[in-house]
Amino acid sequence: MRILERAGLDVTVWSHELPPTREELVHLASGADGLLTLLTDRVDSALLEALPNLRAVSNMAVGYDNIDVHACTARGVVVCTTPDVLTETTADFTWALIFAVARRVCEAAADVRAGRWRTWEPLGYLGLDIAGKTLGIVGFGRIGQAVARRARGFSMRVLYTDRERRPAEVEEAVQATFVPLDDLLRESDVVTLHVPLTPATRGLIGAPQLALMKRTSILINTARGAVVDTQALVRALEERRLWGAGLDVTDPEPIPPEHPLLRCPNAVVTPHIASASEHTRSRMAELAAENLVAALRGERPPKSLNWDQLWTKG
Ligand code: DGY
Repeated sequence: MRILERAGLDVTVWSHELPPTREELVHLASGADGLLTLLTDRVDSALLEALPNLRAVSNMAVGYDNIDVHACTARGVVVCTTPDVLTETTADFTWALIFAVARRVCEAAADVRAGRWRTWEPLGYLGLDIAGKTLGIVGFGRIGQAVARRARGFSMRVLYTDRERRPAEVEEAVQATFVPLDDLLRESDVVTLHVPLTPATRGLIGAPQLALMKRTSILINTARGAVVDTQALVRALEERRLWGAGLDVTDPEPIPPEHPLLRCPNAVVTPHIASASEHTRSRMAELAAENLVAALRGERPPKSLNWDQLWTKG
């Protein structure tokens, strides 16, 4: 707010806990030049039509599957996001989920609170070791690479897959080996997803892919829920065809409390909080505001998806 107000912008805030409906958003933003959105706000052709004055959309997220960037570009609307500032925090949380699942942290902690801790047992809460195992990273961008850097501390073999192989310096820096997705799924003890949600990645991990994974393996998703076929995952977890899953994102989101996924004791599900450290969420908010101010001044925003394209188009 300070950044926006200092720039002299007249700001209207949606201050309710839940996101606005389409009607509420159109009403609130009617006549606005810029929108600062969250990943729960959908920006599509219909919204752009309803808000003809719009010149910039600044999303407070690195992901932008809630925004039709193509439609924005066609209408000359600048689209901005908040990459980089959340990379390390998201990678840290990925590891929190890996260990939570491997060592059954949530299950054990819940038992302590419920008074079910009666004695030290040699076979109580046995989990999986992580050190020395194979980590498979699907999507080797900034966050995938940050996850890989941490794996070195656990002496892990790191495999990755992506649309294409990364340059040798990137692979060497984290000692990661490029393999096709199917090989990665067959060989990894932990599979972690770091791809954006696009038509190509929707349902990327479905029943056939889960069938390739080891019975002792773990699936982690801090990317977008729809990258995984939730029904297929629930079946695999129920039938113990996987050791467990750590999911910070779900499909749908939020996941209803009665969803069968939440009855699987081998699933750790958190409410889309991988970037939620105090510092990082402040940096994301600041960057989103700086992006918006620059775009509305007609200056190159620090992080825009289509500025160059719009500029080239004149
Ligand atoms: C993002 O930025 O896309 C995350 O999902 C929320 O931090």
